[in-house]
Amino acid sequence: MAAYLDGVPLSGIIRIRDLMFTVKDPFRLDQGDISFDAPDTVKSAMTRAIAENKTHYVPTTGVPRLRELIAAKLRDKNRIPVTDPDDVLVTTGGIQGLYVVCQAILEPADEVLVPDPEWPPAAGHVLLAKAVPVACPLYESNGWRYDLDELESKITARTRVLYLNTPQNPTGGVLTRSDVERLAEIAREHNLWVISDESYEDVIFDGEHVSIASLPGMYERTIPLYTFSKSYAMTGLRLGYVAIRDAAIRDRAKKALFYTASNISSVVQYGGIGALEGSQECIEQFRTELRARRDLFYRGIREYAGEVFSGEPPAGAFYAFLRIRAQAGDQSSSWRTAEHLIKNGRIGCVPGVDFGAHGEGYLRFCFARERRELTGALESMKTLFGVRV
Ligand SMILES: Cc1ncc(COP(=O)(O)O)c(C=O)c1O
Repeated sequence: MAAYLDGVPLSGIIRIRDLMFTVKDPFRLDQGDISFDAPDTVKSAMTRAIAENKTHYVPTTGVPRLRELIAAKLRDKNRIPVTDPDDVLVTTGGIQGLYVVCQAILEPADEVLVPDPEWPPAAGHVLLAKAVPVACPLYESNGWRYDLDELESKITARTRVLYLNTPQNPTGGVLTRSDVERLAEIAREHNLWVISDESYEDVIFDGEHVSIASLPGMYERTIPLYTFSKSYAMTGLRLGYVAIRDAAIRDRAKKALFYTASNISSVVQYGGIGALEGSQECIEQFRTELRARRDLFYRGIREYAGEVFSGEPPAGAFYAFLRIRAQAGDQSSSWRTAEHLIKNGRIGCVPGVDFGAHGEGYLRFCFARERRELTGALESMKTLFGVRV
């Protein structure tokens, strides 16, 4: 019996989703999904692939043209020295990328440093590989970055991997170049692998995105992980990728990929080719619109809910991770406040504690929704906060 799976939690986001289905005309700020449509370059490439009957099995690690384009993107945009498209494995979204990587590099009882708060599947995948996630706090007072001395103090003889996520879900924190350089030093010194989750690489408002694998000698010990979900609004199409330099690790990852997917949907991979061959304008357009939505949301929060929530607009990603000012001091305050907002205000949000113990006392709202949905949620808060939380 696979009893260890009982210890792998399903994200509380599922509980929230169920709650949202009980609400009429909800504002779905709980979902980490963007409201944009995928660009025409993606849709027409997929339509063409169907018309040309590209509906058969393809190589497990991906369609060769897509892997070539990804390798070139990793070199030119991320400055990662990928010399061979064979390093690239195409996956069913970033989530499966993380699954195959964890299966490929972890032994039972290995320790993996993960941020707290964090995207719940990060710890979930570590547990699925029978390894142990070790939480490292991120601090609001520090722009949701680490105290790097504290992070280093958590390394033990069993620590094998450092999972990084920048820009970060749920906090929107972005690691600085000097953070990334210091983390690279720590990884080298303690002989750690790095999984670098760069799913939000294009959703950055302040500062720069630095891929740790671009630093000298770091690609050898880093597995960078990406998705088409956020950059090209392809969340439902499920397309992601990782790059692995080490041939033995890559072969293990390939097995995990083969046994879980055989290959990733051929048609979707042609959509990925369309995305990378076509104009990249949508990335800038999405970012500009997301910045406007971020500012709209934070203006509204200050105006209508400033007594209830506090927080600075994030440097990246598309989440507002807001501190609840009116804390009752009990353990479930973020759940209580979330339920109040959902049941009485129709406003979807996720309790911060769902992202880790350090997230207690916060709520996450996604501001990548249509402006009118954001405005509706803000109007609802205005009405609601005449009432005590
Ligand atoms: C930090 C992070 N990594 C990876 C992913 C994976 O996204 P997908 O599986 O849609 O590619 C997400 C999705 O929300 C995320 O927030």
